[in-house]
Amino acid sequence: MTGTQAKRGAWNSKLGFVLAASGSAIGLGNIVFFTSNAYQYGGGAFYLPYFVALFTLGIPVMILELGLGTLTGRSFPNALRQVGGRRAEMLGWWAIAAQFIITAYYVVIIAWAVSMMVGSLGSLFRPGVSAPFDPFREPATRPSAVTYFFHLVSTGWPLVALAAVWAINLFALRGGARTIEAMVRVFVPLMWVFMIGLIIRGLTLEGGLDGVLYLFTPAPEGIANAAVWRGAFAQMFFSLSLGLGVMTTYASYLPKKADQVANAFTISFLNCGFEYIAGVAIFALLFVFSLNPAGTTLSLSFFVVPQGIAAFPWGVRFFGFLFFLLVTAAGLTSSVSLIEGMVSAIIDKFGLSRGRALLVVSIPCALVSCLFVLPQIVDPGLAGNGTLGLTLLDLVDHWVFSYALITVGFVETLILGWVLGADKLRAAVNEHSRIPLGRWYEPFIRWGAPALLGVILVWSLAGEFTGETLYGGSTTPAGLKWLTVFIPLACLAGTVLVATILTRAAGKADEAPAGRGGAGGAAATLGAVALLVSGALLAPARAHAQDAPVIPARARVGEAVNLTLPGAASLTVTYRPNSSIARSVTLPVGSDGVVVWTPEQAGVVALAVDGGSSRNVSVRFAGIPWLGVLVLAAAGTILFGGAGYGLKRLFEGDDHAFPLDT
Ligand code: PHE
Repeated sequence: MTGTQAKRGAWNSKLGFVLAASGSAIGLGNIVFFTSNAYQYGGGAFYLPYFVALFTLGIPVMILELGLGTLTGRSFPNALRQVGGRRAEMLGWWAIAAQFIITAYYVVIIAWAVSMMVGSLGSLFRPGVSAPFDPFREPATRPSAVTYFFHLVSTGWPLVALAAVWAINLFALRGGARTIEAMVRVFVPLMWVFMIGLIIRGLTLEGGLDGVLYLFTPAPEGIANAAVWRGAFAQMFFSLSLGLGVMTTYASYLPKKADQVANAFTISFLNCGFEYIAGVAIFALLFVFSLNPAGTTLSLSFFVVPQGIAAFPWGVRFFGFLFFLLVTAAGLTSSVSLIEGMVSAIIDKFGLSRGRALLVVSIPCALVSCLFVLPQIVDPGLAGNGTLGLTLLDLVDHWVFSYALITVGFVETLILGWVLGADKLRAAVNEHSRIPLGRWYEPFIRWGAPALLGVILVWSLAGEFTGETLYGGSTTPAGLKWLTVFIPLACLAGTVLVATILTRAAGKADEAPAGRGGAGGAAATLGAVALLVSGALLAPARAHAQDAPVIPARARVGEAVNLTLPGAASLTVTYRPNSSIARSVTLPVGSDGVVVWTPEQAGVVALAVDGGSSRNVSVRFAGIPWLGVLVLAAAGTILFGGAGYGLKRLFEGDDHAFPLDT
C-alpha cells in the first residue's frame, strides 16, 4: 500500500472490495426498481434488451469508472480534474450534487422498508388497519398492504425509521473503507441467503414456474417497442451504480495493481445475477397469487409482494419480515456507497477530517431527506401521491433518476474518450488486467457509448414534452401542480449552483488525513440480531386464511373458460400491464349470461365486468415455453458462470497488496 492510499483509506482485502462494490450495485434498484420495470415492460419483452444493455453499456462503462479510480487514486470530481481539468471537475461536482438528492430520497425508501419490516411483526399481516395508525395496535377493518403503507406514511413513524437509517449509515461510514468493509461482510452474504430463501418459497408454490418463465420468454411485440429499450438501458445504469462516480471512489481505495477488467465483470455479473434471482422470486409470487402491480414503482415491492406473502400457507410474518429486512440490507449497502462518494470527494478536495466531512455531508442531506417523509396528507383518498412527502419523492425521483446518471455517463465517456484519450485508458487498464481489453474498446468509448447514452437522453427528454403536462401533471393533487414545473427547475438550478461553487472553491489540501474509526463488530452484531429475530419468527404464523386475497381461477393459453355473469353485458380482458403494450379485448356476454373466454397470452390478466373493477387471473403457458426455458438457462449460466470465472481470475492474481490477503 502506498502512503497516499494509507492516508485516504484502503480496502483490507480483495474480497472486501468485491463485497462493497457489489453491495453498492445490489440495492433497491435490484429488488424494487428492476422487478417493477420488468413487469411494466412486459416481462420477457424487457429481459432481452436489459441483457443487451449489460454487455453494450454496463460492463464497458464499469471498466471506465473503475479504471478512472485506480488511475488517479482520487474520488470522482478530483479524478476528473486530474484527467480533464476544471471543466471536467465541474461534471464531477454536478454528479455529487445529484447524488446528494438521490441519497436524500433513497434513504427514505429504506426507512419505509424498515417501517414495513417492523410492521411485519406488528399489524401489517393482522386483519385490518385502523386510523390513527399504530403499527402495533390490532386494527379493526380489512387489511391490505396498500392501506397499511399509506397509513404508515401519513404518520410520524417513518421519521423514526429514517433517523435509524441515518444512524446505521454514519456508523458504517465512520472509518471509511475499513468500516464499510466490516458492514458488507455481514450484509452482503445475508442478502444472498435471504433472497435464495424467498426463491425456494416462491417456486415451491403451485404456478410459480409459469411466472418465472413469463419473465424470460421473449415477447416480440414488446421487444419492438422503443420505450422498452430505453427503460432497460436506464435500469442497467442505475443498477450498476454507474453515472455518479461511486465506483470510481470505491476503486480509488484499491492498490494500483488491481485488475479492473476482472473486477468489472465480477461486480456486474454478481449484480445482474442478484437481479435475476430477485426476478425469479418475485415473478413466481405474482403468478402464484395472480397479483397485478398497477401504478407506481413502489407498488410491487411495498404492496404486491406483501399481499402475496400474506397468502402463504405458513410463515407469513417470517417471510414478510425477511423480505423487508432483505430490502433494508440491500438498500443500506448502496446508501453507504452513495454517502461515501460525497464524503470522499469533500475529503480529497478540502482536506477535512473524515468526521467533519461526514457531518458536512450528512446533516444537510438528512434534513433534505425529512422532506420526503412529510406526513401531510395532500390526497384525502390516500392513493398514489397520498402525502406531501410521496408527491415530492415521485417528482424528484423522476427527474434526477432519469436524467442525472445518463447525463454524467454521456459527458464522462466523452471526457475519458477524447480528453484523456481512450487509448491511454485502455493501456492503463490493460497493464494489470489478466483479461486484456481489445482494440474495440477505444472506438467504443469515443463513439459508441456517448452515442448510445446521447440517444437515450434526447429521446427521454423529447418524451417529456409530448404530453399535455410535465411529468406528474395528472397525479399531483390540485393545489400542488406548480411543483411539477418547480421541481425540475429547482433540481437543475440547485445542482448547477452547487457544482459551480464547489468547483471554484479553493482546495485546501491534496491529501486527506487518515480516517478514524473502531472495529466493525457492531455491523456483525446487527446482522446476528437480525438473524435471531427472524429465527424466532420461524414458528408458523397464525392462520391467515380469512385475510388472504381470494385466489382467482387460473387459466391456460388456448383453453376456453366458461364464465357465467348473469345480468352483465360485457367482459373486458386486458393482457399485459404496460400502457404501451397493453391490449384489451371486450367480449359480449350472451343472453344466457355466459361468456366464453379463450386466453391468448400468458401473464397476469385483468378481467373486468361491464368496465367495473377488475379481477386478476394468471394465465399459464399452453405448453412448455421452450424459448423462455432457454433464456432462463442461458442467462443464469452466463451470469453465474461469469461471476464465478471473474472471482476465480481475481483471486488467483498475484497483487498481494492487501493487508488481509498477504
Ligand atoms: N445501484 C444501486 C441500486 O441498485 C443504486 C445506486 C446508484 C447506488 C448509484 C450508488 C450509485 O439500488
